[in-house]
Amino acid sequence: MTLLQLRKRTMTLAGSVMTAYLIFHMLTNLSFFSAPAFEQFYAFYNQVWIRWPLLALVLIALFIHVKAAMAIRIKNSQARQVGYKKHDKLHIPAPLVSLSIVLLLIFILVHIGQTLMLDTSQVRQAMLDWFSSGWMLLFYLAGLLILAMHLLHSLVNVLQTLGISSSMHRLSISSGVVLLTIGFAAVPLYIWITA
Ligand code: HEM
Repeated sequence: MTLLQLRKRTMTLAGSVMTAYLIFHMLTNLSFFSAPAFEQFYAFYNQVWIRWPLLALVLIALFIHVKAAMAIRIKNSQARQVGYKKHDKLHIPAPLVSLSIVLLLIFILVHIGQTLMLDTSQVRQAMLDWFSSGWMLLFYLAGLLILAMHLLHSLVNVLQTLGISSSMHRLSISSGVVLLTIGFAAVPLYIWITA
């Protein structure tokens, strides 16, 4: 196996860990619609032996994913004689792709910073406070939109690498990403609308 292949595999593995966490996080966020279920879940989640190891796992996966992606990008740009004008089939200019990745990283780090500051016995109240602000709602919706674009693009690429290019698979990936995004957006939108 070449170094490039190893980096790609590492990046995909770390990305899969984060995608699994995202699905889990979105589903547990939906328990917001039942106050007792939400309180019960976060009382369980915020135990020292669950919260910190899980956060460490996500941060390590994020670090490995970004590091491998950067190494692959540097290698690719060194190998390229003529610069890309457009990026991939969606025809998104390469600088815009880089900008969206930086914005996504900022969103994730700001979000984690925000959760680290909250009172863990008042998670539901913190959600109510965050999303009663239109600016906070916009910040989260923008972050979720960039996350959705990133997932769509990268999951389709993973399929291509695996030699799978059927429209059925693409459709299931797109539907999954749309469901994940709607699931995440539901609680902030509900809080803002009913505030
Ligand atoms: C609308 C979308 C989202 C909402 C409302 C939301 C809400 C929350 C809340 C309330 C917590 C606190 C858990 C605690 O009690 O410690 C949390 C933790 C976390 N969220 Fe999100 N989240 C959202 C999206 C995301 C996304 C897209 C990511 C991407 C990676 C993410 C990553 C994390 C991580 C890593 C933690 C653990 C941080 C910690 O333990 O302090 N979240 N989120």
